Amino acid sequence: MSAPMRALCRFEEIPDGGAKGFSGPPGSFIGMFVVRRGERVFAYVNSCPHVGVPLDPVPDRFLDRKGELIVCSAHGARFRVEDGECISGPCMGDVLEPVAVEVVEGEVRAAF
Ligand code: FES
Repeated sequence: MSAPMRALCRFEEIPDGGAKGFSGPPGSFIGMFVVRRGERVFAYVNSCPHVGVPLDPVPDRFLDRKGELIVCSAHGARFRVEDGECISGPCMGDVLEPVAVEVVEGEVRAAF
């Protein structure tokens, strides 16, 4: 059974071309993050498929310098924003765990 949708933030709180991290529900140690591309949003569990650590070295820093790819700070794995697949690094071919996300009336909601 999938988790119910819960409100994360207002859409405009995520900069276009940027990303924002969120803690999990109460009692959860693992968080998630949302990447915004224009009007679209993509969300993943904040856990690298390589060894399972959070990707962001400092809060909300999930993307490379150009803002094109998701980066894991631990060993430099890079993931496509659109599908979370690792395209370079030690877990090449693995994928970030997707989280269902939607924007409703300007509010970002996720099943997490
Ligand atoms: S933990 Fe992410 S690349 Fe190693």
